[in-house]
Amino acid sequence: MGGRLIDGKALAEELRETFKTRVEALAARGHRPGLAVILAGEDPASQVYVRNKVGACEAVGIFSLKIDYPADVPQETLLAKIAELNADPAIHGILVQLPLPTHINEETVLETISPEKDVDGFHAVNIGALTQGNPRFIPCTPYGVMKMLEANQVSLAGKEAVVIGRSNIAGKPMALLLLNASATVTVCHSKTRDLAAHARRADILVAAVGKPRFVTADMVKPGAVVIDVGINRLSAEAGGKLCGDVDFEAVKEVASLITPVPGGVGPMTITMLLANTIEAAERRAET
Ligand code: GUN
Repeated sequence: MGGRLIDGKALAEELRETFKTRVEALAARGHRPGLAVILAGEDPASQVYVRNKVGACEAVGIFSLKIDYPADVPQETLLAKIAELNADPAIHGILVQLPLPTHINEETVLETISPEKDVDGFHAVNIGALTQGNPRFIPCTPYGVMKMLEANQVSLAGKEAVVIGRSNIAGKPMALLLLNASATVTVCHSKTRDLAAHARRADILVAAVGKPRFVTADMVKPGAVVIDVGINRLSAEAGGKLCGDVDFEAVKEVASLITPVPGGVGPMTITMLLANTIEAAERRAET
């Protein structure tokens, strides 16, 4: 007997339908949400993500502007473009695809984005607001995970939640959201001693490590809810397929609920980017 699947693709489609209505309501008042996506360099995975983000915008009626730079773009060029977009009334959200080329200071770039247009929720002001339990923009991947838990009636108050990974994009904001929802949260990382023992305590286990099939069945408590944030491309010898951080085939036999890869967290990440962009436009329309 296996656990039930959390279908991120279906939930994403359901939410995106509701977004069309919100975009139409804005249009009726003379507003169109606009998202600018900046990509520096030729990282193939980033190119796919950016293409998917831009395509998803078009599908719900959000205006999108894709700005490409070569990998050797000077940092000043990026900062000047962000300043221009900060001042552009047609743009409500600005996203700089990560990772950036190594000569560019990621923090400087992210802090240049106006917090009101920071639809990734990575600006220190927005992370601060999230930390205080009063979020303005929630980072898209953990936001999508929270929506998946909510849609599947997973209660969090008092539960043991274990997050594996402490990245600024996924692990850290995930832990904050679970904490804000009154779970008892443990964050595991590369220096954690006996990570498997922590993982086995989890009622809700979130894997955001970036290592294919890192979470094995022996690390999962029977009946746990397992969320796989990983999107890893296996080598050509291993079949070249997408694979999560969880050994899905084995873990699904132990978990009560589990997200697949692909079709789990991935589609929800883009969906929450759309949600944040529409939200930004709605806030602007109110002012
Ligand atoms: N790279 C991987 N995930 C993300 C994300 O959610 N936002 C941005 N900007 N870059 C990413």
